Amino acid sequence: MQERRILGIDVGASGIKGGVIDIDAGELINERIRLETPDPATPEAMAETFAELVRLHNWKGLIGCGFPSIIKNGVAYSAANISEEWIGRNVVETFSMACGCPVEVLNDADAAGLAEMQFGFGKGEMGTVLLITIGSGLGSALFIDGKLVPNTEFGHIYLRNQKKVAEQYASSNARKREDLSWEEWGIRFNEYLENIERVLNPDLILLGGGTSKRFDKYDSYLAIRTPVRPAQLLNAAGAIGAAVYAFQQSRK
Ligand code: BGC
Repeated sequence: MQERRILGIDVGASGIKGGVIDIDAGELINERIRLETPDPATPEAMAETFAELVRLHNWKGLIGCGFPSIIKNGVAYSAANISEEWIGRNVVETFSMACGCPVEVLNDADAAGLAEMQFGFGKGEMGTVLLITIGSGLGSALFIDGKLVPNTEFGHIYLRNQKKVAEQYASSNARKREDLSWEEWGIRFNEYLENIERVLNPDLILLGGGTSKRFDKYDSYLAIRTPVRPAQLLNAAGAIGAAVYAFQQSRK
């Protein structure tokens, strides 16, 4: 029988987190370990931290990895919050050579979205569902009738009145950097959602990432037509989705 436990690793701009995932239950089955993302987040330094996490889990087998970049055929096509040296690098090769295990890679927000659609509040949701992850950057995962449209970057749309991309204005990093109150940030985030709604008209928006846990702090400032809800799966969503993705790829 095919292995139904896979190491899921969520590589982020501030932390590299992972745990062994039971892909049927969509749950972590051991303790999730978090290591700091090296600064600068170059391919060599990140590969070393990635391999260290694999060693700490004493893992030898398939690994699913969410990575904060546009990913096509294993190659990174953008680097908003990591070193630009990643652009054009094959993430699959870089990580699998460093840890000696086969690795499947997809965008980190897409990974979190896959988990939320399979095991969280997105389950059974038809129509256009957008998951936005709020963290160092703003990530997005778009689903049409449950099917992922990979590599959307709705965190990089230009805001009409701001002359900057959305994640520089309304991410969790922007809130911390500018020391914004929840009200100030909530108003900004609502402005961002208005821009999304104007062009996409989704049926549901789910919010993931660390800031989704604080939904009650800014919920009252969100005033768009589209229903907006915090995601159900919190910290482990990226690792769970990455593991599920790796399993699906291994069966192709
Ligand atoms: C990146 C996305 C990523 C998001 C969350 C953005 O800066 O462009 O690819 O999904 O951050 O990590």
